[in-house]
Amino acid sequence: MFAPEELQGLWQVDRPYLNTASYGLPPAPAFAALQEALDDWRHGRTSWEGWTESVARARESFARLVGARPQDVAAGATVSELIGLVAASLPDGAQVLVPEVEFTSNLFPWLVQDGRRVHVTTAPLAGLADSVDHATTLVAVSAVQSSNGDIADLPSIREAAAANDALVLVDATQACGWFPLRAMDFDFVVVHTYKWLMSPRGAALMTVRPERLESLVPVHAGWWSAESPLGDYYGPPLRLAPSARRLDTSPAWFSWVGTAPALEVVERLGVDRIHEHNVGLANRFRAGMGLEPGESAIVSVDVDSAERLERAGIRAAVRAGSLRVSFHLYNTCEHVDAALDALGPQVR
Ligand SMILES: Cc1ncc(COP(=O)(O)O)c(C=O)c1O
Repeated sequence: MFAPEELQGLWQVDRPYLNTASYGLPPAPAFAALQEALDDWRHGRTSWEGWTESVARARESFARLVGARPQDVAAGATVSELIGLVAASLPDGAQVLVPEVEFTSNLFPWLVQDGRRVHVTTAPLAGLADSVDHATTLVAVSAVQSSNGDIADLPSIREAAAANDALVLVDATQACGWFPLRAMDFDFVVVHTYKWLMSPRGAALMTVRPERLESLVPVHAGWWSAESPLGDYYGPPLRLAPSARRLDTSPAWFSWVGTAPALEVVERLGVDRIHEHNVGLANRFRAGMGLEPGESAIVSVDVDSAERLERAGIRAAVRAGSLRVSFHLYNTCEHVDAALDALGPQVR
């Protein structure tokens, strides 16, 4: 567990915010860096190149967080865009296996390849590994489900994919930041940073196993994908960066200015300890609701409205017809107890 002084001053939360699965709250260094950059922008005090340094910083910090090398990390704006790039690079007639209730950013990018006979099949999350067979080209799965916090059995999926020569893409948007993950165990790991990595929206990262890089078409190639992007803006020939940066989208500066310091806070606090903190709070909530302990920082309960929580000034969400609460660094035992009190004995 964290000593209170380790977290002190990092967040300004004036009411229980139990909705990190929707968006995370910025730690102080991220908020300050963003304010400073916005102020510089407003007054024209600086040139833009400095803002792009945040992309490199974020790439390096993310690589350390998930056990990858910076040259294996691509930086884009959204998960759907990065998965779309992988989908566009699949061979015609590829077979993609996805869980039945998967977030659409990891579903529609595969479905839109229908015209090339890319075929999508679905299976229940719990049986996903058993559904991989020799016809499977790629398994695409969220490490943690957005609808209810269920955790995929990634070791079994990986094993089944390896036995069938299939690729694995993991969407770790609801995992990265609290759930320990070794990205290089998978062909592709995609993360949008605005939830558990507490960054502005618009900064997404993807690890690519080095042996897969050549198979990907850099469909977003532009000035930023060049080997030396600063100062080399015009004319042929094509000169792509040798690293996964060739897959980048040219950066939305301010998103990255806020993202780099937020990732560094996560790194400094440590994912293992964040995991313990978050799951501890989630299990306190589960116990109060009469549920068995779980493994997730996200809890879904059979209450079809967040109204009682809203009336008590507590922010949560309703997904797939159930109440979804999620616990992160800026939450405390008092927040959990306030939510349980607000829900009242009639729903427990
Ligand atoms: C699992 C998962 N992936 C991706 C996203 C966001 O997708 P995108 O980056 O395409 O907006 C979300 C947002 O809720 C999500 O829960």
